[in-house]
Amino acid sequence: MEERKTLTTKDGYPIADNQNSLTAGARGPVVMHDFHLSEKLAHFNRERIPERVVHAKGAGALGTFTVTKDITQYTKAKLFSEVGKQTPVLARFSTVGGEKGSADAERDPRGFAVKFYTEEGNWDMVGNNTPVFFIRDPLKFPDFIHTQKRCPANNLKDPYMRWDYWSQSPEALHQVTILYSDRGIPKTHRHMNGYGSHTYSLINEDNQRVWVKFHFKTVQGIQNLTETEAAKIKAQNSDHATEDLWDAIKESDYPRWRFCIQVMTEEQAKTHPDNPFDLTKVWKHADYPLIEVGILELNRNPDNYFAQIEQAAFSPSAIVPGIDFSPDKTLLARVASYNDAHRYRLGTNYQQLPVNLPQCPFATYQRDGAMAYGDNGGSTLNYEPNSDPNAPKPSTDYQEPPLPLGNVAVDRYDHHEGNDEYSQTGDLYRLLDEDAKQRLVDNIVGSLGQVPEEIQLRQLCHFFRADTDYGMRIARGLGIKIDPSMLPKELQELKA
Ligand code: NDP
Ligand code: HEM
Repeated sequence: MEERKTLTTKDGYPIADNQNSLTAGARGPVVMHDFHLSEKLAHFNRERIPERVVHAKGAGALGTFTVTKDITQYTKAKLFSEVGKQTPVLARFSTVGGEKGSADAERDPRGFAVKFYTEEGNWDMVGNNTPVFFIRDPLKFPDFIHTQKRCPANNLKDPYMRWDYWSQSPEALHQVTILYSDRGIPKTHRHMNGYGSHTYSLINEDNQRVWVKFHFKTVQGIQNLTETEAAKIKAQNSDHATEDLWDAIKESDYPRWRFCIQVMTEEQAKTHPDNPFDLTKVWKHADYPLIEVGILELNRNPDNYFAQIEQAAFSPSAIVPGIDFSPDKTLLARVASYNDAHRYRLGTNYQQLPVNLPQCPFATYQRDGAMAYGDNGGSTLNYEPNSDPNAPKPSTDYQEPPLPLGNVAVDRYDHHEGNDEYSQTGDLYRLLDEDAKQRLVDNIVGSLGQVPEEIQLRQLCHFFRADTDYGMRIARGLGIKIDPSMLPKELQELKA
């Protein structure tokens, strides 16, 4: 469109004066028909949209994904079709609990969301900087998030809520340990890994499935902030990680991640010691080694934050042929939940916003709704099946392979039953060096020390179950003398 140098209203009317309202006399009242004034004030009143209910504070950038290894034996997804192939991407990094203006340097998991604009539609990899999560049943998500946000009474962050909840949700211990470890406060968004966390599936040309986990390993190296460093940064700059990402890209120091996968066959899944679809567990590298598949590079800052980052809508449901879900309950609930959030936050036609629009041909019979852009399908039919030979039709070429579920009954199964909540947390604790163990313990004591003893004792049992030394050190830090009767039965032989 031709560039217009004269300022106009949104209807295109030229503005003669943008400093003085239309008034009856120099000291007189403004008149109602100053439509420029009323449009300007009215638009201003509507500038804010709801912030994301979680992950509200974020920064993002654009870039490319380049394939470095052939994995076509696992997936028919065209973005992986040949070595050297490049796909444009958008990435957004975020904290979870804080509001849109909150500090980047909080102890909190980081969101790690990547939208791949592939030739078969958008693939959104909506992950975190942690390989596991606090819960394995999605029914628990809203309660869990409430404990990370503000107290309903006084609108303050409250350690009571989080430890009260965690101490009654032992499946959280693995992620809690990561959260209070050195990696709980990444130095910047560039210095952290990303993980799909859930198990997904890859499907090849022969419609064979393997289970897969996605990893993005930072090429910048893992770097973290201590509690003290973070406090200092927060006092000076609440946007330090946003600024860091922007500056690095501006200075052509493009951040990169090695994109890797772990692959598990359907046969292996049957004999895997844990539930391979449990979001609170990792697959051991020794058993399922990382296979490096490509490089993610961010090399372009957004031109407009609101249009390209705030309006970005990432959805676990955005998949492409060759990439699919797994029976992970939390993943499947997320698949249903995010689009609902986008309809509320951005509107029913959010996929038509330029940042969310697939960069490939697409064909849908969905029409109308608030803010339908473009030609809205023009004069083409808006129903299917129809008799128009040229109209889009479903294709069985894209039928996914069946998911055999055996002879199962629908019920509310106790997700704790038969699940080992502690071994992997213990593995993580034991791999930390002495200093890292002490920092982890100090960070936990700093937070857990603020809640009533009843909750401390409940939570201590979880630490003890993961690793005796872990429990002992936290007990000591809290000044709790361990009397064997306080401990779970299997640990009662322990002495302080
Ligand atoms: P490995 O020794 O092969 O892997 C250990 C992993 O621990 C490495 O990936 C390392 O990441 C990561 N790590 C080191 N410090 C921390 C920390 N403070 N917070 C989170 N991760 C950290 O052993 P396993 O595969 O048997 O895993 C052992 C434990 O390591 C797991 O129980 C889990 O807690 C953790 N882990 C495992 C991952 C996996 O996919 N298997 C992924 C991430 C963590 P890096 O290589 O970047 O230094
Ligand atoms: C954002 C729900 C678990 C990663 C969101 C949003 C919702 C949500 C409603 C806001 C979406 C928006 O307004 O744009 C849930 C539910 C979960 C869950 C119901 C579990 C039942 C997870 C897990 C991960 C994750 C396990 C990572 C592995 C993210 C990320 C964002 C996000 C990265 C921000 C995306 C962006 O940058 O826009 N989640 N979530 N979530 N979630 Fe989740």
